[in-house]
Amino acid sequence: TAYTTAHLSNAMDRGYTELLRLHGAAGARMIAESHTAAIARVESIVESEGIDCDFERVDGYLFTPRGDDTMPLRQELQSAQMAGLLGLEWHFETLVGTIDLGPSIRYPRQAQFHPLKYLAGLREAIVRNGGTIYGNTKVERVGSDRTVETDNGCRVAAEHLVIATNTPINDRLALHTKQSTYMTYAIAGRVPRGSVRRILLWDTLVPYHYVRTAPLDAEWDLLIVGGEDHRVGQENDAVDRFNRLERWMRERFPTVQEIEYRWSGRVVYTIDGIAFIGRNPTGDERVFIATGDNGMGMTHGTLAGMILSDMIIGRQHRWERLYDPARRTVGALGEFVKGNMATAASYTDYLTAGDYPDESSIARGSGAIVRHGWRKAAVYRDEAGTCHTFSAVCPHMKCLVRWNSLDKTWDCPCHGSRFSAMGEVIQGPATENLAPFGTKTEAEEKPQEQA
Ligand code: FES
Repeated sequence: TAYTTAHLSNAMDRGYTELLRLHGAAGARMIAESHTAAIARVESIVESEGIDCDFERVDGYLFTPRGDDTMPLRQELQSAQMAGLLGLEWHFETLVGTIDLGPSIRYPRQAQFHPLKYLAGLREAIVRNGGTIYGNTKVERVGSDRTVETDNGCRVAAEHLVIATNTPINDRLALHTKQSTYMTYAIAGRVPRGSVRRILLWDTLVPYHYVRTAPLDAEWDLLIVGGEDHRVGQENDAVDRFNRLERWMRERFPTVQEIEYRWSGRVVYTIDGIAFIGRNPTGDERVFIATGDNGMGMTHGTLAGMILSDMIIGRQHRWERLYDPARRTVGALGEFVKGNMATAASYTDYLTAGDYPDESSIARGSGAIVRHGWRKAAVYRDEAGTCHTFSAVCPHMKCLVRWNSLDKTWDCPCHGSRFSAMGEVIQGPATENLAPFGTKTEAEEKPQEQA
């Protein structure tokens, strides 16, 4: 959650034109209603718990760059109105800083906050009400009898289990074929306080840009711009992407001074544009999942809390069927095929050459895939020059990982698992580390090179 830019919106990343096609008029209305309610729920929790997290209601604008076809944007306005969003407005020009960005739709009563300050408030409330939270406790296995096994060998039995991970760690096939993981990039630059309006902003480009501000101090705000998304593990050109983001930002917001922060995050998309929240599609009735946030993690996460708490105490929730992980969305077949072809294509990595013919070309503090006969190794050379070699095979479903030079991680292109440079799993669905191949110092490599 620390990586999110925390837009609280009911405008929906996938757009209502597409959501109407996929979920019908009744479904799209429920999507609009539920995300509107999620923003209101966050607001009421912030108030009732007195959480100091910079929460504020702001307008959102979806704009089409000047000169581009405005028909899809007009269609989106109509679709969002059909879905029941109120108070939408068409604007012929959009002034956020000093430059007109183009025509836009204005969405009233969106919101933004500081996600970690909000979470800290939730944590306090949970503990104050008798709850217990165990951090740094990695679950490695989920048993069919609602027990989980942790990495230190403990077994925890539960009355109900909620698996709320980017991608479920308990199922192999039920949902992985219906989700794709993308990498997104964000930068934050200093702007004089008030020189950029406090709003949420998105454009209609593919991939799209997203923008918000955050208070920094009495004189300055941070302008946060994100975008340049791509499927995890398929590109390794973060520097170019950050440069493009910065250019995009400076062209539209000339008051930006230095860039203070750069980071990347993950977005998990489902084939039909909304999260999977509810009973796990296979196995025990009392195992629940929440996954596939579609870039709407703040509202989908809140909805998961609202829906699952009702289901656990045996109360039917009115949005239960809409978000049911077992749903079949007929219109999403094309997305299903596309996503799975991309996953299948990743397995051809077994046949290709490595990034380098051997370890000697790998710079200190960097990693690369190297072929060892019929196998591929993920090799990381640490700052002292020692190579640490792991099997490149992802323990989840045996795709081959790729090096991510920005975060210095091994990323799996199939379902988005992520491993540290030293092979430790840091993001599922994999729950095990990369298998070691052995380590070699620079001195140990040299005689072999000469030989
Ligand atoms: Fe599924 Fe790697 S995350 S194979």
